[in-house]
Amino acid sequence: MKSFYEWSSGLRDKINEVNERLLETIKTDQSYLYELAKYTIEAGGKRFRPLLTILSYEISSDKPYKNILDLAAGYELIHTASLIHDDIIDNSPYRRGRETLSSRDGINNAIVVGDYLFAKAYELGSRYGKDVSKVMADASSRLAEGQILEAVNIGNLNLDIETYMNIIKSKTADFFAACSMGATMAASVDKNISEKLTSFAYNMGMAFQITDDILDVVGNENDMGKPTMVDLNHDVITLPIIYALGHSNDRDRDILIKILKNGYRGNDYKKVFKDILVRTDSIDYAFRIAKDYIMKSVENLNNIGRSDDIDLLMDLALIVIDRINESGVV
Ligand code: IPE
Ligand code: IPE
Ligand code: MG
Ligand code: MG
Repeated sequence: MKSFYEWSSGLRDKINEVNERLLETIKTDQSYLYELAKYTIEAGGKRFRPLLTILSYEISSDKPYKNILDLAAGYELIHTASLIHDDIIDNSPYRRGRETLSSRDGINNAIVVGDYLFAKAYELGSRYGKDVSKVMADASSRLAEGQILEAVNIGNLNLDIETYMNIIKSKTADFFAACSMGATMAASVDKNISEKLTSFAYNMGMAFQITDDILDVVGNENDMGKPTMVDLNHDVITLPIIYALGHSNDRDRDILIKILKNGYRGNDYKKVFKDILVRTDSIDYAFRIAKDYIMKSVENLNNIGRSDDIDLLMDLALIVIDRINESGVV
């Protein structure tokens, strides 16, 4: 994942332009606010959402990608704002390889910076007219709906797969879909191509969140730049955990429940937890589902012509899967 942009120097250049646009957008006379926002923006991140936005636009339009940089930056700002707030919720110490804003500068400041980035994002979105603005605003509402549905299900050991899928659809996949939908609308491309690219992004988003949930258990903190076992420590029940609860023997299930309810006192609880998930094939199961979503995702790229950008979208989808392959557990 570290060499994420190495497969295309052209993309690296585009993301550099998105980064410039982000820094430009957050300028304010309030120097402290600017400093805090800049700290978060400069931490980087994979920039998946702006990439999706730019590539979807290029596939849909003959016009230069510069036209879509504001929208790409807008989506990244919403995403970054949601992560700032998510880190407050999770009391998380670091993200993108740096101390989180809430840990470094306090929760109050982090709330304000999140709000500021949301507002700036809508300003960028408004440059594309009413319809694209609505797509962006709706994606942001969906994200909040997903986060709250996740929150009300914290510690719910009976969480079913359907509800889990609803949560990740709202908080992640619909947002991915909105990146492509907004971009294709801005390009005024025909409905068929817009729907295919949106479906590509949606299914990739589902896979992306499932793999993130797998990596929360088996991932490497240094590679990801954020702590693991955060879901477990906050009783967020994810797909591998749901599967493990339904497919473990009585003894393992007992231990799992004790760990999830913070009743397991051993120092080795993370290892015990991970071992049970691996032993019950829960990691393999969740990975299979993620791969199915990636298959569905890339099917949409057939029959919309051939271009370098379609190949790049294909690579992007495969990278989602590679993150798990690289973890070495499957
Ligand atoms: C993290 O998103 C939140 C999820 C949807 C899993 P990313 O993994 O895209 O985070 P950054 O932008 O690279 O930090
Ligand atoms: C929440 O998902 C982030 C959003 C989609 C808003 P996660 O809680 O899984 O994200 P990480 O793992 O903290 O990056
Ligand atoms: Mg989180
Ligand atoms: Mg996560």
